[in-house]
Amino acid sequence: MSPRVRATNAAVLSDPLACAVDLGLPLDDPSVEELPVPLRRLLSQSWQRRAKSELEVGFAFEALSARAQQLGVDPAVCTLLRRASAQERTHSLICRAMAERYGARRIDDPDLSGFALPEFGEPEPRLEFTLHLTGLCCVNETLASAWIHACVAASRTRLGLAANRAHLREEIEHARIGWAHLASCMRDEQLLAGLRRRLPELLRVNVRQWLDPALYVDGPGLSEHGVLGSVESRRTILAAVDELVLPGFAHLGIDVPPLDWQH
Ligand SMILES: [Fe+2]
Ligand SMILES: [Fe+2]
Repeated sequence: MSPRVRATNAAVLSDPLACAVDLGLPLDDPSVEELPVPLRRLLSQSWQRRAKSELEVGFAFEALSARAQQLGVDPAVCTLLRRASAQERTHSLICRAMAERYGARRIDDPDLSGFALPEFGEPEPRLEFTLHLTGLCCVNETLASAWIHACVAASRTRLGLAANRAHLREEIEHARIGWAHLASCMRDEQLLAGLRRRLPELLRVNVRQWLDPALYVDGPGLSEHGVLGSVESRRTILAAVDELVLPGFAHLGIDVPPLDWQH
């Protein structure tokens, strides 16, 4: 990689506006001004929240790529995890650019001081790593892919469509990292037993987070700007659990008992 390319990437990775311009996001879309200010504020809040969670996921991928290397996981998986970390940082910048555009104000760097990778407390490091990857990729990135896909489908503005599309393809790739890793573990009966033991609780915790209405904003016309409201988000997530996540585990021979997402 030439020094010039590195410098360009460094600028893109540190500046939301530069990142948005680099990706060709139509920030001049006049549909933003057509929205009443209170609704623009709601969209700004939503994108700001997403900017933080994308960055957290980026740190999680970075931490997992280091653990993967220590565990001697397939180097291809380590490379994909590192690439996912960089992509999530870019996603965070896209979200910040959107928050700034809708909010017509500067948005600070997300505060990740309270963020820490959760620990499952498993003594076997390979199981601990697999639980992380299962939660992050097979569950969260699969649900993120479904949710963003629904946001793309609902988008009626150039900006909403472009911003969501800039995320979607990479989130699908991130989900595949987890499914590919699990497929490579199918002969490890001890690891599979641990995964089966922990999976119901892991699923329950992660899905419940996605069903939290506080994650979403509601208001007339917001979905047309590519931000799904709480009712439609809940419907999308529950459908993705039934149609993508649970069949994914079943395909690998890991059946999950019926779960109640409310408790
Ligand atoms: Fe992302
Ligand atoms: Fe992702």
